[in-house]
Amino acid sequence: MSHRLLFVGPPGAGKGTQAERLATSHGLLHLSTGDLLRAEVKAGTALGKEAEAVMNRGELVSDALVLAIVRGRLKDHGSGWLLDGFPRNLVQAEALDTLLAELEQPLDQVLLMELDDEELVKRLLARGRADDNEEVIRHRLTVYREQTAPLIDYYDQRGQLKRVISTGTVDEVAERILLALA
Ligand code: AP5
Repeated sequence: MSHRLLFVGPPGAGKGTQAERLATSHGLLHLSTGDLLRAEVKAGTALGKEAEAVMNRGELVSDALVLAIVRGRLKDHGSGWLLDGFPRNLVQAEALDTLLAELEQPLDQVLLMELDDEELVKRLLARGRADDNEEVIRHRLTVYREQTAPLIDYYDQRGQLKRVISTGTVDEVAERILLALA
């Protein structure tokens, strides 16, 4: 399996759950921009204060802010990594290309996790994070379709995209992912 990976998919598709599991079993750095932003919010930093209201509305935090977070982490990490929730739009994808060229760490594969909207909403309502109420979830889905889904073609055209359906148990999805990335 290749060691520089990116997970894409709508909110609730299981990116965080599966990324954490795969990163642990393969010794990869798991970089979730959502988790990093939530840690800033919890710590009450200036960055967290700027991000909190945006996240609670289900909008995307500014590209500059997210890029600064990712750059700092990847720069110090020479071995494998798994990006989860980043890039989120074409501007971020192009910035990632530039950064990876600079670091001489080319991306190997992109995994798209797919699930139908009703199941996504059900899973997120059961989780109950600050941004997991029905209105905000539906807005996050719209933001995903408008801003993040264009990345599917972007990576598919490069021959880097693999797809899995996220129905079934966590173990079943994990197995599908290992097969897709083998
Ligand atoms: P982020 O944290 O990235 O959230 P998201 O993309 O909306 O993804 P989720 O965490 O909701 O879903 P997931 O696919 O990771 O699923 P999970 O494994 O958690 O972003 C949050 C916000 O931060 C954004 O709205 C934005 O404001 C900001 N942000 C983050 N990155 C940004 C960026 N790059 N640029 C700008 N802004 C950014 O699973 C969901 C639930 O389902 C869990 O409860 C889980 O236990 C459960 N579950 C998982 N798998 C299964 C299964 N197989 N069966 C049943 N339940 C399951």
